Amino acid sequence: MKQDLQGRWALVTGASSGFGVDYCHLLAARGCHLLMAARRAEAMEKLAETLRARFNIRIEIIAIDLAQSGAAAELFQRSEAAGICVDILINNAGVGLFGEFTEQPLTKTLSMLQLNTSCVTELTYLYAQQMRQRRSGHILLVASIAAFQPLPGYAAYSGSKAYILLFGEALHEELKPDGVHLTVLAPGISATAFFEVAGQQASWYHRLVEMPSRTVAAAGLDALFAGKASVLPGLLNQLTVFVCRFLPRQWQGRIAGRAMRSK
Ligand SMILES: NC(=O)c1ccc[n+]([C@@H]2O[C@H](COP(=O)([O-])OP(=O)(O)OC[C@H]3O[C@@H](n4cnc5c(N)ncnc54)[C@H](OP(=O)(O)O)[C@@H]3O)[C@@H](O)[C@H]2O)c1
Repeated sequence: MKQDLQGRWALVTGASSGFGVDYCHLLAARGCHLLMAARRAEAMEKLAETLRARFNIRIEIIAIDLAQSGAAAELFQRSEAAGICVDILINNAGVGLFGEFTEQPLTKTLSMLQLNTSCVTELTYLYAQQMRQRRSGHILLVASIAAFQPLPGYAAYSGSKAYILLFGEALHEELKPDGVHLTVLAPGISATAFFEVAGQQASWYHRLVEMPSRTVAAAGLDALFAGKASVLPGLLNQLTVFVCRFLPRQWQGRIAGRAMRSK
């Protein structure tokens, strides 16, 4: 039986684009009120307008740069001040940075790590404490297929997602006894603005394996409400990760790097 989410509040970070938009649609369709957070207020306003017209839900928007230190605490405080009790936390905002590590400006890499790891850790800490006290709540962390092997061209990004995968799977066990469900979604290549923002052109490999973002977001939410520790949507993605397990780690990195850099 599907969980009744009617009237619960979901905080979706990165709600202005890609998977974030999909989570908002899927949760709104199940009667959730939405607290949207990202930098682009206009994109979120537009989405909110569409969703309000279709569903009888409340929507609040917080325009915030989550790559700034202190932003997670600010978002938490603003949700508290608005009297919103977050039942579902979708920790989705994240970016990639494509290219040789030493050729990227260090500030960009550090900002990505702040957004992809520190902010996710802090938001999870703040909301999980409350959920634990209430003995209920759901948290989704968004890792990546890049978390399962080293990925030349995305060295720091794949490292940040490996952290999310292991952090999340461990937390799943810690939180479960107190009625808080945490799931890590590890998407493969999906049709969002991710690669454009990361500075990479789509290759033949991307086109071969790309999944629709709505399918991936729905698989993440299904796994979350089914109480799973993690989910890797897509048979081809599952097969790739399975086969990679039997290869030496160094080979895994070499093969993955070639596939990602192919034209
Ligand atoms: N698409 C893929 O193939 C893929 C595969 C594996 C994992 N992922 C993960 O999926 C998640 C969502 O990405 P996506 O694919 O949906 O890409 P996307 O379409 O580029 O969306 C990224 C979202 O993150 C938000 N964001 C970026 N920087 C931010 C900042 N400094 N502060 C607040 N919000 C920020 C963006 O909003 P603003 O720009 O308005 O701030 C946007 O809403 C990421 O964690 C990504 O690593 C994606």
